[in-house]
Formats: sequence, C-alpha cells, structure tokens
Amino acid sequence: TKWSLFLYPEVDSTNAEALRLLSAGALPPFVVLAEAQKAGRGRRGRKWISPVAQNLYYSLAYRITGGFQQLSGLSLVAGLAVMISLRNLGVRQIGLKWPNDIYAGGKKLAGVLLELSGDPADVCYVVIGVGINVNMVSTKEQIDQPWTSLRTELGHLVDRNSVATCLSDTLHSYLQRHTDYGFASIQEEWEREHIWQGRDCVLSTASQQVYGRVVGIDEMGGLRLEVGGVEKSFNSGELSLRLA
Ligand code: ATP
Ligand code: BTN
Repeated sequence: TKWSLFLYPEVDSTNAEALRLLSAGALPPFVVLAEAQKAGRGRRGRKWISPVAQNLYYSLAYRITGGFQQLSGLSLVAGLAVMISLRNLGVRQIGLKWPNDIYAGGKKLAGVLLELSGDPADVCYVVIGVGINVNMVSTKEQIDQPWTSLRTELGHLVDRNSVATCLSDTLHSYLQRHTDYGFASIQEEWEREHIWQGRDCVLSTASQQVYGRVVGIDEMGGLRLEVGGVEKSFNSGELSLRLA
C-alpha cells in the first residue's frame, strides 16, 4: 500500500488536521506529520507536550469497514504496534500500560490517541495519533509524570525519519493482522507486554474508584480485574489505571 504524507512545520494537532483533511474529502490511508504542535492532545482532554523538531507527532487516517466490531481493541492494537516498533529500534524494558500508553523503565515514552470520523455503524474512519518522545531531554513546560525519550533510552540522537518509517511498517502489519484475524489474534501478545499484569491497581473514573488485581484483557480490549474474588471487565473510555 501507498500512504500519502502530509507534512507541516506546525499544526494545532496532527489528529485535528487529519480529521479536517478527512472532512475535506482526503482519502485514507494517509499520514499527517508535524514538526511542532500548538495544541497536542492526550486522552480525556489532556495536553501532549509537543516542542518543535524534537519528537514525532504522527497521525494515520485509516478506513474501517467492519463497524463497531473492528473498532474494539483497535487502540490496543495501535499501542502494541508502537511498542514493537520502538523495541525493534533497540529500546529495552519497554512495555504497555492499559489501554494504550508505552512505558520504558517505568517512564512514559509514547502515547496513542484514537479519534473517529463518520458513522461507526457504516463507513468509518479512524485517526490513530501517535506521539513518541525522540530526542527531547528537557522541557520548558512541565510534564506531570515521569517521562523518557528514545535518546535517553538509547544513549544517542535518533533520526526521526527512521522512527516514522519503522512505525508505519509495524502499524501496517498489525492493522492488517487485526483486520484479517480479529483482536483475538493479538490479545495474548498484548497481555504478555502489559507492565501491570497481575498487579494490584486502582481504576478511576470521574465519579468512582475500583480496586482490583489485573487479570488481563478481554476479547474486546477491555481490562479484566479481579475485584473481591469476582472478575469484572472495564472498557477504556473514561478510565485511568494506577498502581494501588
Ligand atoms: P491515563 O490515560 O491512563 O490516565 P496518562 O496519565 O498517561 O494515562 P494520558 O491522557 O494518556 O494520561 O496522557 C496525557 C498525559 O501525558 C499528560 O497529562 C502528561 O502527564 C503526560 N504527557 C504530556 N506530554 C507528554 C510527553 N511529551 N511525553 C510524556 N508524557 C507526556
Ligand atoms: C496520551 O497518552 O494521552 C496520548 C497522546 C497522543 C499524542 C499524539 S501526538 C500526535 C497526535 N496528535 C495529537 O494531538 N495527539 C496525538
């Protein structure tokens, strides 16, 4: 497959730009890359710190045909693909935190944010936004949790083009696998990479907290927790997972 590439010196958010391009009739698959983001977004309205020329700000617009069925688990598939591509670049002690954060040595290295366009019951486009800290070693704006970058993990400057190429290849093959064989074909591999598998955690929403032990994920990509001897599943929507 050929993926078109839209490259910008600066955008508000590569996800926002990809959504605008879709609305304007651009045909996926295509990738939006920017040198800097003025309003990089994280999950649940949070901010993604995006200084110029140091990191990768990448959004892939992709068409989904199977409706909701295809959508379940897609963000976990994307997270796994990002992780595998970074491991292939040599990063060690790398793992996933449900639903789709990438950690190295316990620090946040990359994040994934999926946004939908169109009608999930019909033709549906998804924008897979990926932020990877590449050569960033300090920030003007404070990041309120431990973070790291490829430069820190590998001990040398890293070429962002090779990260983007490696990422596209891996994403392509995992998305293909997901389309052909479904999320079930990826579930076990994902669980093996979960940094908190078997750990006691607290899952929070705006209104409540649930304490439990991480059992794994279900066939939709939901988190399975053992809560007071009973196993329960949780969808990723508005949830946040922390160690207890
Ligand atoms: P969860 O989604 O499970 O609550 P989270 O705390 O990582 O996990 P997200 O919304 O996924 O929250 O990510 C946004 C958060 O990521 C920000 O609140 C900030 O702490 C952190 N962050 C922002 N920019 C960066 C960056 N460039 N590198 C690493 N971390 C960042
Ligand atoms: C998260 O961990 O909360 C997800 C962060 C996702 C950040 C990337 S950077 C490229 C794309 N454009 C955005 O505005 N967000 C994603």
